[in-house]
Amino acid sequence: MASAAAPTVLVLNGPNLNMLGTREPEIYGSQTLADIEAMARQRATDLGLIMDFRQSNSEGELVTWIQEARHGADAIIINAGAYSHTSVAILDALQAFQGPIVEVHLSNIYKRETFRHHSYVSGIALGVICGLGAKGYLLALDAVADKVARS
Ligand code: DQA
Repeated sequence: MASAAAPTVLVLNGPNLNMLGTREPEIYGSQTLADIEAMARQRATDLGLIMDFRQSNSEGELVTWIQEARHGADAIIINAGAYSHTSVAILDALQAFQGPIVEVHLSNIYKRETFRHHSYVSGIALGVICGLGAKGYLLALDAVADKVARS
């Protein structure tokens, strides 16, 4: 666990999420990732959380950040994008993390193609939020704040 007075939550975003706003807005909405970060930062502040919000298109970089979180974060919120459906490496890294993990997807992955119905992250997550757009990140922060306060 991190030793900072305020709990720290690492919010990780995977590939192509840097393109939000212009990428298939009928599926992902018109907000950019910067818009979502601003909303999430406000909610984290209100909840007394320190938020570290990041995005990478690289699976390896995401794995490294998850490894580093073992010594710097109390919880992880992750939208691993397409890597959710493919990455055993991200699963392995998350399994080595001891705090709560909440998985978020903007879209309802169960209403979409069959290959999106399985996520490697879901089996080790405290909870999964999908289909609620950017609000999912805010709900995940609420859940994490509750969990960190109780643990
Ligand atoms: C996503 C859903 C994934 O299937 C997709 O590959 C993404 C975004 C979502 O937020 O809805 O990149 O994680």
